[in-house]
Amino acid sequence: MTSASSETMQLQIVADYAAMSQAAADLVADLTTREPQATLAVPTGSTPVGMYQALAAKVRQGTLNLSRARVFCLDEYQGVGPEDPAGLTAWLAANFFGPAGVPMSQVQTVPSTEADHVSAAARYEESIRRAGGLRLAVLGLGGNGHIAFNEPGSTGESRTRVLNLTPESIAQARSAFAGRPTPTQAMTVGVATLLEADRIVLIVSGAGKADMLQRALRGAQTAQVPASFLQRAGRRLTVIADRAAAAKL
Ligand code: GLP
Repeated sequence: MTSASSETMQLQIVADYAAMSQAAADLVADLTTREPQATLAVPTGSTPVGMYQALAAKVRQGTLNLSRARVFCLDEYQGVGPEDPAGLTAWLAANFFGPAGVPMSQVQTVPSTEADHVSAAARYEESIRRAGGLRLAVLGLGGNGHIAFNEPGSTGESRTRVLNLTPESIAQARSAFAGRPTPTQAMTVGVATLLEADRIVLIVSGAGKADMLQRALRGAQTAQVPASFLQRAGRRLTVIADRAAAAKL
Protein backbone atom coordinates (compact mmCIF):
# COMPACT_ATOMS: atom_id res chain seq x y z
CA MET A 1 0.00 0.00 0.00
CA THR A 2 1.22 3.49 -0.83
CA SER A 3 0.16 6.10 1.69
CA ALA A 4 0.46 9.80 1.05
CA SER A 5 -0.83 12.18 3.64
CA SER A 6 -0.45 15.90 3.38
CA GLU A 7 -2.20 18.91 4.80
CA THR A 8 -4.97 18.02 2.44
CA MET A 9 -6.60 14.65 2.01
CA GLN A 10 -5.25 11.29 3.06
CA LEU A 11 -4.77 9.14 -0.03
CA GLN A 12 -4.42 5.38 0.33
CA ILE A 13 -3.61 3.55 -2.89
CA VAL A 14 -4.04 -0.18 -2.52
CA ALA A 15 -3.47 -3.10 -4.89
CA ASP A 16 -6.96 -4.07 -5.89
CA TYR A 17 -10.66 -4.21 -5.10
CA ALA A 18 -10.21 -6.72 -2.28
CA ALA A 19 -7.61 -4.54 -0.58
CA MET A 20 -9.80 -1.44 -0.98
CA SER A 21 -12.74 -3.29 0.57
CA GLN A 22 -10.66 -4.53 3.49
CA ALA A 23 -9.07 -1.12 4.16
CA ALA A 24 -12.48 0.58 4.16
CA ALA A 25 -13.99 -2.10 6.41
CA ASP A 26 -11.05 -1.78 8.82
CA LEU A 27 -11.59 1.96 9.02
CA VAL A 28 -15.32 1.59 9.74
CA ALA A 29 -14.56 -1.15 12.27
CA ASP A 30 -11.91 0.94 14.08
CA LEU A 31 -14.30 3.85 14.47
CA THR A 32 -17.31 1.80 15.56
CA THR A 33 -15.20 -0.18 18.02
CA ARG A 34 -14.05 3.05 19.66
CA GLU A 35 -17.48 4.64 19.34
CA PRO A 36 -20.17 1.95 19.16
CA GLN A 37 -22.96 4.51 18.72
CA ALA A 38 -21.22 6.43 15.94
CA THR A 39 -23.45 7.99 13.30
CA LEU A 40 -22.62 6.68 9.85
CA ALA A 41 -23.78 7.34 6.31
CA VAL A 42 -23.11 4.60 3.79
CA PRO A 43 -23.36 4.20 0.02
CA THR A 44 -24.97 1.81 -2.42
CA GLY A 45 -23.56 0.63 -5.74
CA SER A 46 -21.13 -2.09 -6.72
CA THR A 47 -18.11 -0.42 -5.10
CA PRO A 48 -19.06 -0.98 -1.41
CA VAL A 49 -20.18 -4.62 -1.76
CA GLY A 50 -16.79 -5.99 -0.71
CA MET A 51 -16.58 -3.59 2.22
CA TYR A 52 -19.98 -4.75 3.46
CA GLN A 53 -18.92 -8.39 3.09
CA ALA A 54 -15.75 -7.70 5.07
CA LEU A 55 -17.75 -5.94 7.80
CA ALA A 56 -20.26 -8.79 7.99
CA ALA A 57 -17.37 -11.27 8.27
CA LYS A 58 -15.95 -9.33 11.24
CA VAL A 59 -19.37 -9.40 12.89
CA ARG A 60 -19.73 -13.16 12.29
CA GLN A 61 -16.25 -13.76 13.72
CA GLY A 62 -17.18 -11.78 16.80
CA THR A 63 -14.52 -9.09 16.35
CA LEU A 64 -17.02 -6.33 15.58
CA ASN A 65 -20.45 -5.40 16.88
CA LEU A 66 -22.49 -2.90 14.89
CA SER A 67 -25.70 -3.34 16.86
CA ARG A 68 -25.49 0.14 18.35
CA ALA A 69 -24.30 2.02 15.28
CA ARG A 70 -26.69 4.62 13.90
CA VAL A 71 -27.00 4.86 10.15
CA PHE A 72 -28.39 7.58 7.90
CA CYS A 73 -29.20 6.44 4.38
CA LEU A 74 -27.74 8.76 1.74
CA ASP A 75 -30.26 8.57 -1.04
CA GLU A 76 -33.36 6.86 -2.42
CA TYR A 77 -35.36 6.96 -5.61
CA GLN A 78 -38.20 9.42 -5.24
CA GLY A 79 -41.51 7.67 -4.63
CA VAL A 80 -39.78 4.43 -3.64
CA GLY A 81 -40.28 3.28 -0.06
CA PRO A 82 -37.72 1.63 2.23
CA GLU A 83 -39.27 -1.81 1.76
CA ASP A 84 -39.42 -1.73 -2.02
CA PRO A 85 -36.91 -4.38 -3.17
CA ALA A 86 -35.91 -2.21 -6.14
CA GLY A 87 -34.89 0.66 -3.87
CA LEU A 88 -31.55 1.65 -2.41
CA THR A 89 -32.67 1.26 1.23
CA ALA A 90 -33.79 -2.33 0.67
CA TRP A 91 -30.50 -2.96 -1.09
CA LEU A 92 -28.61 -1.69 1.97
CA ALA A 93 -30.78 -3.82 4.25
CA ALA A 94 -29.96 -6.94 2.23
CA ASN A 95 -26.27 -6.21 1.70
CA PHE A 96 -25.29 -4.47 4.90
CA PHE A 97 -27.78 -3.94 7.74
CA GLY A 98 -28.97 -7.57 7.82
CA PRO A 99 -25.63 -9.37 7.38
CA ALA A 100 -23.80 -6.95 9.71
CA GLY A 101 -26.45 -6.89 12.42
CA VAL A 102 -27.43 -3.22 12.25
CA PRO A 103 -31.03 -3.12 13.58
CA MET A 104 -33.44 -1.34 11.24
CA SER A 105 -34.66 0.60 14.27
CA GLN A 106 -31.34 2.46 14.17
CA VAL A 107 -31.48 3.19 10.47
CA GLN A 108 -32.86 6.53 9.32
CA THR A 109 -34.33 6.15 5.87
CA VAL A 110 -34.62 8.96 3.36
CA PRO A 111 -38.24 10.25 3.37
CA SER A 112 -38.66 9.64 -0.35
CA THR A 113 -42.40 8.91 -0.39
CA GLU A 114 -43.75 12.02 1.32
CA ALA A 115 -45.93 14.29 -0.77
CA ASP A 116 -44.35 17.45 0.64
CA HIS A 117 -40.80 16.55 -0.25
CA VAL A 118 -39.42 19.99 0.59
CA SER A 119 -40.40 19.82 4.25
CA ALA A 120 -39.56 16.09 4.39
CA ALA A 121 -36.04 16.86 3.16
CA ALA A 122 -35.67 19.70 5.67
CA ARG A 123 -36.72 17.35 8.47
CA TYR A 124 -34.13 14.79 7.37
CA GLU A 125 -31.42 17.47 7.54
CA GLU A 126 -32.69 18.38 10.98
CA SER A 127 -32.55 14.77 12.17
CA ILE A 128 -28.91 14.53 11.07
CA ARG A 129 -28.17 17.74 12.99
CA ARG A 130 -30.03 16.49 16.07
CA ALA A 131 -27.97 13.28 15.97
CA GLY A 132 -24.87 15.49 16.29
CA GLY A 133 -24.02 15.33 12.59
CA LEU A 134 -22.36 12.49 10.73
CA ARG A 135 -19.31 10.99 12.41
CA LEU A 136 -18.35 9.18 9.23
CA ALA A 137 -19.67 9.35 5.68
CA VAL A 138 -18.51 6.56 3.37
CA LEU A 139 -19.06 7.48 -0.27
CA GLY A 140 -18.72 5.89 -3.67
CA LEU A 141 -17.92 7.84 -6.82
CA GLY A 142 -20.55 7.90 -9.56
CA GLY A 143 -19.24 7.45 -13.09
CA ASN A 144 -20.39 11.02 -13.84
CA GLY A 145 -18.80 12.45 -10.68
CA HIS A 146 -21.83 12.23 -8.42
CA ILE A 147 -21.62 11.53 -4.69
CA ALA A 148 -24.67 10.03 -3.00
CA PHE A 149 -27.15 11.15 -5.71
CA ASN A 150 -25.78 14.66 -6.09
CA GLU A 151 -25.73 14.63 -9.85
CA PRO A 152 -23.72 17.06 -12.02
CA GLY A 153 -25.18 20.52 -11.41
CA SER A 154 -25.19 20.04 -7.62
CA THR A 155 -23.39 22.81 -5.80
CA GLY A 156 -21.17 22.58 -2.76
CA GLU A 157 -23.90 24.33 -0.80
CA SER A 158 -26.64 21.82 -1.71
CA ARG A 159 -28.73 20.23 1.03
CA THR A 160 -31.05 17.24 1.20
CA ARG A 161 -33.53 17.57 -1.66
CA VAL A 162 -35.23 15.89 -4.60
CA LEU A 163 -33.47 16.22 -7.93
CA ASN A 164 -33.68 14.89 -11.47
CA LEU A 165 -31.46 11.95 -12.27
CA THR A 166 -29.20 12.01 -15.31
CA PRO A 167 -29.99 9.62 -18.18
CA GLU A 168 -26.89 7.66 -17.13
CA SER A 169 -28.18 7.11 -13.58
CA ILE A 170 -31.67 6.26 -14.84
CA ALA A 171 -30.12 3.65 -17.15
CA GLN A 172 -28.15 2.23 -14.18
CA ALA A 173 -31.40 1.88 -12.20
CA ARG A 174 -33.38 0.25 -15.00
CA SER A 175 -32.57 -3.40 -14.27
CA ALA A 176 -33.78 -3.13 -10.65
CA PHE A 177 -37.12 -1.77 -11.84
CA ALA A 178 -37.66 -4.37 -14.56
CA GLY A 179 -41.31 -4.32 -15.65
CA ARG A 180 -42.00 -1.02 -13.84
CA PRO A 181 -41.30 2.56 -14.81
CA THR A 182 -37.78 3.52 -13.73
CA PRO A 183 -37.76 6.50 -11.36
CA THR A 184 -36.36 9.67 -12.86
CA GLN A 185 -35.81 11.51 -9.57
CA ALA A 186 -34.13 10.79 -6.25
CA MET A 187 -33.93 12.36 -2.83
CA THR A 188 -30.33 12.73 -1.72
CA VAL A 189 -28.41 14.14 1.20
CA GLY A 190 -26.71 17.30 -0.09
CA VAL A 191 -23.05 17.99 -0.76
CA ALA A 192 -22.88 20.55 2.07
CA THR A 193 -24.38 18.02 4.48
CA LEU A 194 -21.77 15.45 3.50
CA LEU A 195 -18.98 18.01 3.83
CA GLU A 196 -19.97 18.61 7.46
CA ALA A 197 -19.17 15.00 8.42
CA ASP A 198 -16.29 14.63 10.88
CA ARG A 199 -14.70 12.18 8.49
CA ILE A 200 -15.37 11.30 4.86
CA VAL A 201 -14.09 8.16 3.16
CA LEU A 202 -14.30 7.92 -0.63
CA ILE A 203 -13.85 4.41 -2.00
CA VAL A 204 -13.00 3.99 -5.68
CA SER A 205 -12.12 0.95 -7.75
CA GLY A 206 -11.33 0.16 -11.35
CA ALA A 207 -9.85 1.78 -14.44
CA GLY A 208 -13.29 3.06 -15.47
CA LYS A 209 -13.21 5.54 -12.58
CA ALA A 210 -9.61 6.75 -13.10
CA ASP A 211 -10.43 9.87 -15.15
CA MET A 212 -13.28 10.89 -12.86
CA LEU A 213 -11.20 10.37 -9.72
CA GLN A 214 -8.47 12.54 -11.21
CA ARG A 215 -10.98 15.30 -11.97
CA ALA A 216 -12.54 14.99 -8.53
CA LEU A 217 -9.31 15.20 -6.56
CA ARG A 218 -7.04 17.29 -8.78
CA GLY A 219 -9.40 19.25 -10.98
CA ALA A 220 -11.25 22.51 -10.37
CA GLN A 221 -14.07 22.50 -7.86
CA THR A 222 -17.13 22.56 -10.05
CA ALA A 223 -20.78 21.56 -9.91
CA GLN A 224 -20.13 19.59 -13.09
CA VAL A 225 -18.15 17.16 -10.89
CA PRO A 226 -19.90 17.24 -7.50
CA ALA A 227 -17.21 14.96 -6.02
CA SER A 228 -14.69 17.77 -6.61
CA PHE A 229 -16.19 19.62 -3.64
CA LEU A 230 -14.76 16.88 -1.42
CA GLN A 231 -11.46 18.77 -1.77
CA ARG A 232 -12.97 21.23 0.72
CA ALA A 233 -12.91 18.56 3.43
CA GLY A 234 -9.11 18.71 3.56
CA ARG A 235 -7.69 16.39 6.18
CA ARG A 236 -11.14 15.04 7.03
CA LEU A 237 -11.17 13.26 3.64
CA THR A 238 -9.62 9.81 3.19
CA VAL A 239 -9.59 8.38 -0.31
CA ILE A 240 -9.09 4.63 -0.63
CA ALA A 241 -8.49 3.79 -4.27
CA ASP A 242 -7.14 0.72 -5.95
CA ARG A 243 -4.21 1.05 -8.35
CA ALA A 244 -6.40 0.98 -11.43
CA ALA A 245 -8.62 3.81 -10.17
CA ALA A 246 -5.60 5.85 -8.99
CA ALA A 247 -3.71 5.46 -12.27
CA LYS A 248 -4.22 9.09 -13.35
CA LEU A 249 -3.49 10.79 -10.04
C1 GLP B 1 -25.18 5.08 -7.30
C2 GLP B 1 -25.34 5.65 -5.88
C3 GLP B 1 -24.07 6.21 -5.32
C4 GLP B 1 -22.90 5.32 -5.75
C5 GLP B 1 -22.73 5.39 -7.23
C6 GLP B 1 -21.59 4.55 -7.80
O1 GLP B 1 -26.06 5.62 -8.20
N1 GLP B 1 -26.40 6.61 -5.72
O2 GLP B 1 -24.16 6.30 -3.90
O3 GLP B 1 -21.73 5.75 -5.12
O4 GLP B 1 -23.93 5.18 -7.94
O5 GLP B 1 -21.97 3.25 -8.10
P1 GLP B 1 -20.93 2.11 -8.38
O6 GLP B 1 -20.21 1.86 -7.11
O7 GLP B 1 -21.76 0.93 -8.79
O8 GLP B 1 -20.03 2.59 -9.47
